[in-house]
Amino acid sequence: MRKPLVIGNWKMHGSQRSVGQLLDGIAGVADLAVEVAVCPPFVYLAEAAAKVSGTGIRLAAQSLSEYECGAYTGEVAGSMLADVGCRYVLVGHSERRRLFGETDHRIARQFERALAAGITPVLCVGEDAAERNVDATWQVLHRQLATVANAAGWEALGESVIAYEPVWAIGAGATASPAQVEAVLVRIRDLLGSGGAGPRLLYGGSVSKLNAAELFALPDVDGVLVGGASLQAEEFTAICRLAVGESWKPW
Ligand code: 13P
Repeated sequence: MRKPLVIGNWKMHGSQRSVGQLLDGIAGVADLAVEVAVCPPFVYLAEAAAKVSGTGIRLAAQSLSEYECGAYTGEVAGSMLADVGCRYVLVGHSERRRLFGETDHRIARQFERALAAGITPVLCVGEDAAERNVDATWQVLHRQLATVANAAGWEALGESVIAYEPVWAIGAGATASPAQVEAVLVRIRDLLGSGGAGPRLLYGGSVSKLNAAELFALPDVDGVLVGGASLQAEEFTAICRLAVGESWKPW
């Protein structure tokens, strides 16, 4: 496995106080041979940037606008995220797709905006339970990937980070099985190629310190995208340790 990438998606959680506490709590991960990024809510990005400065922990945003700049009330531009020091930005998270009506085409434009701003997009893809039940998983994933690739280019997609997050496993307390994860990641890697840098492939969906080891053991897993468990410093640190083959017990 390449240097693993562990991203904590804090979603809409936290306060000025808790952001500082959480970053203090995970400070130890900076010493591990793992790339760690956190995605605080937009309003806390600047203070999180100040806090992680010089630590090696990277900053990421949860979304960005499909527009460059202008009269788009409530939107945040990729250039602004770059300005406060974001290295990564999530694009197409299933909560954005499902709850906020983000379409494949809008996501493709966001992806391009991220690249234009010099930020690496983390493209989230995944099927829901109904789609999996009718064996449409690959059809859905292919459509999500191809729409972005047709806009930004297959090569650009191949050099980004792809997070496979089956919707039915998010916040559900049960991950996809290792076999299910590997079967999907192999197909994504086949589609995008493994030449050059190749895409980094993450898994997300109820990742915890109890299941992270078996996920990291999969040949095509380059890292994980962690939701709920990233809000607990001890749990998130344990996942980062497992990424480099260390045990989270007994400390
Ligand atoms: P959970 O880890 O809480 O299931 O969330 C996954 C996720 O959506 C990360 O982006």
